[in-house]
Amino acid sequence: MKTLLQIHSSLFSEQGQSSLLAGQFVERWLDANPGGKVVTRDLAANPVPHLTGERFQAFLADPEERTPQQVKYAAESDRLIEELGSADVVVIGLPMYNFGIPSTLKAWIDHVARAGKTFKYTEKGPVGLLSDRPVHIFAARGGYYEGTPRDTQSAYITHFLNFIGIRDIEFVYAEGLAMGDEQRRQSLDAAAEAIDRLAA
Ligand SMILES: Cc1cc2nc3c(=O)[nH]c(=O)nc-3n(C[C@H](O)[C@H](O)[C@H](O)COP(=O)(O)O)c2cc1C
Repeated sequence: MKTLLQIHSSLFSEQGQSSLLAGQFVERWLDANPGGKVVTRDLAANPVPHLTGERFQAFLADPEERTPQQVKYAAESDRLIEELGSADVVVIGLPMYNFGIPSTLKAWIDHVARAGKTFKYTEKGPVGLLSDRPVHIFAARGGYYEGTPRDTQSAYITHFLNFIGIRDIEFVYAEGLAMGDEQRRQSLDAAAEAIDRLAA
């Protein structure tokens, strides 16, 4: 039985446009994978805390010597890594907020990027420790950014996933969502068609 991890990073949880597009894909995936398991990580409903010095020290500390508080901090990160590591497929709803990724998603990344667990440094540079798997990213934006230097999200997320070992990444964009009903409709229709192609 395959497991799909669905990450919501919209302020509006599963009602966000990025989550709705991701949800369309997940429905199709379930059709193709009867009995498949969907694990939802809703970063609006259950935000991962900002990374602090104390938390980061807990990650670095020798597991045998962690204080009870450090054990708790490390376990929170371990749980997110385990959730990602055990997913066969990952789906990320990615809204653009103030020209970047949601801060909730950045906090998740800060807890998943762990030396010795998801990457390691070698003489030849960093090596990702997670096995590759498909990641489908549904990016919702008020304006138009795809393929321009102002798209700060796509390269960043790709770079992060590559860093931890994941290279099989596909984006579906829904852009111009704040630029009038007609453009919004066209963009959502095009995204739905892209999802059909992806799921086929
Ligand atoms: C707080 C906030 C900031 C936003 N900033 C941007 C922005 O910088 N660029 C843009 O194109 N759209 C921006 N938008 C529009 C969103 O990208 C758009 O509404 C998208 O559908 C959000 O995805 P969601 O519905 O999944 O949350 C912003 C929306 C909100 C609520």
